[in-house]
Amino acid sequence: MILKNGDELSEDELTGLLQLEDEKKIESLYRRAYREKVKQVGKKVYFRGIIEFSNHCQKNCYYCGIRRDNQELTRFEMSREEVLESARWVYENGYGSLVLQSGEVQAEEYAEYIEGIISEIKEMSGGELGITLSLGEQNKSTYRRWFKAGAHRYLLRIETTSSDLYDELHPDDHGFQDRLDCLKDLQDIGYQTGTGVMIGLPGQTPADLAGDLKFFQRQGIDMIGMGPYVPHSGTPLASGDNLPEDLDEKNLDLSLKMVSLLRILIPDVNIAATTALQALHPRGREKALKAGANILMPVVTPQKYRDNYKLYENKPCIDEKAEDCRGCLKNRVKSIGEEIAYNEWGDPPRYFRRLGSRTAELGGEIDAENAAG
Ligand code: 5AD
Ligand code: SF4
Repeated sequence: MILKNGDELSEDELTGLLQLEDEKKIESLYRRAYREKVKQVGKKVYFRGIIEFSNHCQKNCYYCGIRRDNQELTRFEMSREEVLESARWVYENGYGSLVLQSGEVQAEEYAEYIEGIISEIKEMSGGELGITLSLGEQNKSTYRRWFKAGAHRYLLRIETTSSDLYDELHPDDHGFQDRLDCLKDLQDIGYQTGTGVMIGLPGQTPADLAGDLKFFQRQGIDMIGMGPYVPHSGTPLASGDNLPEDLDEKNLDLSLKMVSLLRILIPDVNIAATTALQALHPRGREKALKAGANILMPVVTPQKYRDNYKLYENKPCIDEKAEDCRGCLKNRVKSIGEEIAYNEWGDPPRYFRRLGSRTAELGGEIDAENAAG
C-alpha cells in the first residue's frame, strides 16, 4: 500500500495514513511495519527493567498524576539499598539493562544521590548492566556527571512537538525550548537519546502527530517511547467534560498506527511497546509489538510503591511483584511467536550508524566505547 521508500514519506502523507479507517488497510500497514522490524532487529524483544524510585516532582504538567499539586497520593522515595536491591534483581534475572525513573528534581543533593547509585550499579554488575536514566530536565553539567558515572542512555519525552500544544499542556514556567535544549545537550554528551510523545491529547491533530514523526527522523533519535494519553482524574486536563467517550479506543488505534509509521519511517530505531497501551487494552503491548515495536519495559518497582506511581489511571501491574511481571511478560512475548533477548543491552542499529558518522565528524571526541558499552 505504501509504494515509495518509507523514509521518504512526507508529513502530509503521514497525516493521511494516520487517518486510515479501512480495517484491511490498517492491518496491511501493521504487517508492513512488522516485516520491517523483523528485517532490522529480528523477532526479538529487549527488556528494560524500570525502577520508579521516587514520585517527588517539582513540575506541574496538567496531564500527570504525580504532578506537584496533586495531594491525593503519598510521596515516597526508595532508599539507596532498595534501589540497589531492585537493580540486582534486574541483573540476576537477565534483563540486560535498567531504567531509573522519577519525577523531576533539580537539586545538588539529588544529583549526587543519582551519581552514587549509578556507580554502585555499575560496580555491582561488573559493568554488565546497561543504565538508562529518565529523570527529566537537568543542566548540562548534571547530565555529563551522570554520563561519566556510567549511564549511557537517557529518555526525555518532548511530549508533543507542537509548541502551541506544549504551552497548553504545561504551566508558564515549563518551556518547550528548554526541553529541546535538554535533548540537544544529551545528544552532544553522547547519550543514546530517547524521546517520545503522548498520543491522543485533547487538541492534538493528526498533522501534529505526523510532525512528531518527522521530528524524530530529523533529530537523529535512537529510541522512541510513545504512548496513548490516558486521563488521570486528579489532573486539570482530565477534569471537566471535554473528553470523548470513545477516547480509549481512538487513542489505542492512533498509538498503533504511530508505532507502525515510525517503524516504516525510521526502520532501525528502538521502539517501546509502552505500558500505557495496556491501560487501554489487555493485549495493548502485544499489539504494539506486532505493529513494529521491539522493546518492553517491565516494571520492577517494589509492589508497595506502585500504587503511588500512577501517572495515568488504570495503570496495569499495580498489584504485581517483579517476579509476576517477569512470568507474565514472558508468556505475552511467547504468545506472539517472539523471544526475549536476555542479557543483552539491545542497542538500536541506528545508534551505531549515527555514532560512527559523528565520531568521524568530531575527530573521535565521543568515547564510542564508553557511550555504547
Ligand atoms: N497519560 C499518558 N502518559 C502520561 N505521562 C504523564 N502523564 C500521562 C498521562 N496522563 C507520560 C509523559 C511523561 C512520562 C514519564 O509519562 O509522557 O514524559
Ligand atoms: Fe513531573 Fe514528569 Fe509528571 Fe511532568 S510528566 S509532572 S515532570 S513526573
